[in-house]
Amino acid sequence: MNQWILEKTGFDPADAAADGNRFLCANGYMGLRGAVEEAGPAQFSAITLAGVYDQYQDRWREPVNAPGALHFRLSFNGQALALGRTEALSHRQRLDYRHGVFQRETDFGPVTISSRRFVSMADCHLLADQYELRFRADGEMTLLAGISTAIWDINGPHLFDFDYQAGNALLVRAATGEKRIAVAAAQCMTPDFEAEETLLQREQGIFRAYKRRVKKGDTLTVSAFAAICTALDGGDPADSARAHCLQAQARGFDACLQAHRDAWERIWDRCEITLEGDEAAALALHASQYHLNCIAPRHADSLSIPARGLSGQTYKGAIFWDSEIFFFPMFVHTQPEIARSLLRYRIKTLPGALKKAAEYGYRGAFYAWESQEGGTEGCTNFNVVDVFTHRPVRTYFRDKQIHISADIAYALRSYYDITGDRSLLMAGGARVILECARFYLSRANAHLDSDGVDFADVIGPDEYHERVKNNAFTNRMILYCLESALRMREIFADQPGWFDRLLRELDYEKDWALIRDLCPRIREPRVRDGVVEQFDGYFDLEDCTLDDVRARLCDPREYWGGDHGVAGTTQIIKQADVIALMALFPDRFSPEEVAANWRYYEPRTEHGSSLSACMYALAACRIGRPDAAWPLFMKTAQIDVLGGGKQWAGEIYIGGTHPASNGGAWMIAALGFAGLRMQNGYPTLHPHLPPQITRLRFPITAGGKRLLVEVTPDGGEIRELG
Ligand code: BGC
Repeated sequence: MNQWILEKTGFDPADAAADGNRFLCANGYMGLRGAVEEAGPAQFSAITLAGVYDQYQDRWREPVNAPGALHFRLSFNGQALALGRTEALSHRQRLDYRHGVFQRETDFGPVTISSRRFVSMADCHLLADQYELRFRADGEMTLLAGISTAIWDINGPHLFDFDYQAGNALLVRAATGEKRIAVAAAQCMTPDFEAEETLLQREQGIFRAYKRRVKKGDTLTVSAFAAICTALDGGDPADSARAHCLQAQARGFDACLQAHRDAWERIWDRCEITLEGDEAAALALHASQYHLNCIAPRHADSLSIPARGLSGQTYKGAIFWDSEIFFFPMFVHTQPEIARSLLRYRIKTLPGALKKAAEYGYRGAFYAWESQEGGTEGCTNFNVVDVFTHRPVRTYFRDKQIHISADIAYALRSYYDITGDRSLLMAGGARVILECARFYLSRANAHLDSDGVDFADVIGPDEYHERVKNNAFTNRMILYCLESALRMREIFADQPGWFDRLLRELDYEKDWALIRDLCPRIREPRVRDGVVEQFDGYFDLEDCTLDDVRARLCDPREYWGGDHGVAGTTQIIKQADVIALMALFPDRFSPEEVAANWRYYEPRTEHGSSLSACMYALAACRIGRPDAAWPLFMKTAQIDVLGGGKQWAGEIYIGGTHPASNGGAWMIAALGFAGLRMQNGYPTLHPHLPPQITRLRFPITAGGKRLLVEVTPDGGEIRELG
């Protein structure tokens, strides 16, 4: 088994959506789904742009898909040869995770198409494709190559006022509907043959049609260079797109590919986990690291990563807590500049969070549950559609999942704890933590008749139980956020002037005193036989099995949560909640406490979210049960190798890649199996290797140094890299 290659033979249209995700090529600026060159919207072909959003009419706002700038269509002797529409003798496609190169080979009988393409890691605007035709019969071929404007959108269309230009590069210009953001795609071509006739076609895009008589045994190759730019990049996107693709053409395909491969090598150098002992696990880890790295915003300094990465428009391209809790750990330990970008996105979108809090009548910062550009809330009040009535279901994620602000504060604090770098706190991070704390202050429910403080009417990570009181995860995260606000004074003890000015600027004096008073009064959860109650009254709910609940479903796509969901009245939960809390605070709970909770909650967890298994795996390592962690690790790490995961929430399609699992796989390997933990500013190891692994090796960055972690069944060591 090659540990770097995902390969598939044969073609089944039913797999087109999943394969588009599994074979994704991306570079943080855009994602090109893993469909072949001739595919169109029906095969879910798309180039999804990072950070460019649009709303069409009253539909959901979502990221914009660019024109299909690497589109080829072939016909031979008058017959169109297109995968899925024409019978192929064989088809094979593969993705090289090491270098982000997608290859296909399709034998149509008289002609075989083979190509390799990439979305450049060296130039974020560039995509390139080397497309080769081998003929096994004489005849006439027509190759249409250019930019397609038949765009797959879930809630579109988003691009209007198309303008087409020919020249040394083909060019398509358009603008988004809502904000009139200009988007341009350019493409130029280097064929290695003279065409007898080259025509320009402007139909659903702009194409060059190369016509030529060929003979059996002929081979023709075309190198295509495409570029996408938008007005958000600055400058004229059309000029830039043209310049990027012409420059690439001048350098040639091989040189561009080499630059792209070198860029990937530099990424692996920073973060590659080498796992010995289990080939499938090694492949899955490479896949996970590939998927998370290929969507990281390397071209921007304050951009975050959507929950489905750049694999399409699902989940509205929005930024969730996934960013801080699941993506952030790998980056902060290996590529802190990316971790900074994720957090700067939150610093930059603080005004959106202040506005959202004010809209609900609170003070401070209440971050969007599904954050789009500027911190705009993408989560609607009706985020699920009922499969029976087809009516939207009122959901409360937007209003009640208040742990989001504390998750952001947690990551900001971790960034400082892990890197020792205060600059991010000084550049707005401290302000964010203080405003988040202020939000909780105004959200707290104090009582006249008791000293305790509740957080009522919330949703914890387990979304199936809505509007609960004192969710253990939420309360503890809030406490940590408040403590982190207070801790800022110690962190800036050597700069009291700066910190006091900040407090004055935020008019924080009263709040500071209130926070100090609030912290010890936040309600602690009930504990029964060592098990932390997920929220007030959880233990009183029906205690049944997952199978019982599953048997009550009338439709497999039914939503389990909400008012009428099958899980709501039971103890069955969607995803790690108390266990997530224990995974995030490994030092606060004893192994015995974690063990009792693991035993209780695991059988009651549906793992209906791809965020769940990794938290259970981390907790399993903590209690010395790497055997129990192993299947959860494989489930997490293999998700985008196998193309699994939930595809529906009610009637809403939620398929795509799973960056949270990808980040989760890194967490299990590094923080779970190797037991990496920062203690007093130094990395330490507490290994829990499962028997399947004979060696685990990975680089990290800590305190400005590059270190290599190595763990074997005999123990672990950390040494400095030169
Ligand atoms: C999960 C959330 C998660 C979101 C995006 C939902 O299904 O319950 O916790 O943030 O998906 O990944």
